[in-house]
Amino acid sequence: MSKLIVGNLKMNLLTIAERDRYLESFERELKNFPENKAKIILCPPFVHLEKFSEKFKMENVSIGAQNIFWEERGSFTGEISSLMVKNIGCKYVILGHSERRKYFSESGEIINAKIKAALQDNLTPIVCIGESQAERNDGDTAEIIVAQINQSLKDVPISKITEVVFAYEPVWAVGSDAIPTGNDILEVRITIKKTLVEKYGASAAEKVRILYGGSVNSKNVAQVCVEPQMDGVLVGRESLIPNEFLKIVEIINAIRNNE
Ligand code: 13P
Repeated sequence: MSKLIVGNLKMNLLTIAERDRYLESFERELKNFPENKAKIILCPPFVHLEKFSEKFKMENVSIGAQNIFWEERGSFTGEISSLMVKNIGCKYVILGHSERRKYFSESGEIINAKIKAALQDNLTPIVCIGESQAERNDGDTAEIIVAQINQSLKDVPISKITEVVFAYEPVWAVGSDAIPTGNDILEVRITIKKTLVEKYGASAAEKVRILYGGSVNSKNVAQVCVEPQMDGVLVGRESLIPNEFLKIVEIINAIRNNE
């Protein structure tokens, strides 16, 4: 199973010139890159999706959206559907991000509706789950993770579960410089796998990828991804610097080659 390295560019690249500089720099760095076995997924703001899809036609670079609406079309002013992003070249969509839960009050029910819409249109949802600092302090991490998985996967059939990717993103590690220990991450990985085994059986659960996200950089990727045997990473700030982002890819590639 190839590793996934996802860049969540969030609400950045404000001008066309800035976007083009980013694309040029990314392309230049990629040209000098040794053979890449991992899968790179770049998730720019909606307005840049088309340009990114045009630019990256190679097999191991895909494009993802940062959000979708759960309805397919119609009178939903300001919203964008899964079919729209799919038709513009996206293969993935980030859903349930803690910033959307916090600033847009996205509930488990809303996230579940969006996951089902994505799956229906063969878009791979990258579903973010994770505890807040207070929940962690109270020792509730596992409970929160299980609850978020159950809400996310309500009425998701076994035939679709292997298309879902989970990203463990502790809320307190997003945009900070704090990260969990490799062991903490491994424990959450085990909790996620156990929950999936109970719901869908061992053979389906085995095929579901679990990423880590939250303050990932090239210096800590060994601790947050390699050590806890994660299937890749979801990167925020460092994905805005192509050179730094590709350093992360390089480290993950090296592990795979050593496997
Ligand atoms: P940072 O890597 O900037 O902490 O952001 C993580 C994130 O939210 C990725 O979705």
